[in-house]
Amino acid sequence: MKKFSILVASALVGVVSVAQAADIEAGKAKAAACAGCHGADGIATKPSYPNLAGQNAEYLEAAMLAYKTDARSHAVMKAMVSGLSDEDIANIAAYYESLKK
Ligand code: HEC
Repeated sequence: MKKFSILVASALVGVVSVAQAADIEAGKAKAAACAGCHGADGIATKPSYPNLAGQNAEYLEAAMLAYKTDARSHAVMKAMVSGLSDEDIANIAAYYESLKK
């Protein structure tokens, strides 16, 4: 029984670490579509657009999911994120967090 619990515990640890390993390079590729407004370096091209560089990934991810579900209402951003999977969103968030402010 003890052996079984250890097996289950280590399997769970494996799942958690896979879920957290966002792919920054994949995020960078997807973020190409965002550069027109949020800038190639995550610094917005106009003052009316938010800078994303160096922002917390968890916050960026929550913001994108909120646009997707209409919890946060913005027509342009909804259109931008509606085609992205949850994995794309996590990768993009990790990419912007990795950029310097
Ligand atoms: C046409 C311009 C435009 C494009 C293209 C665009 N955005 Fe945005 N984005 C905005 C604007 C404007 C806001 C602020 C909206 C608001 O008031 O909620 C915003 C907000 C955001 C926010 C929330 C920032 C914050 O500080 O709360 C995130 C995250 C974001 N965009 C990610 C993206 C991603 C990822 C893409 C590409 C898939 C993208 N945007 C493409 C204009 C754009």
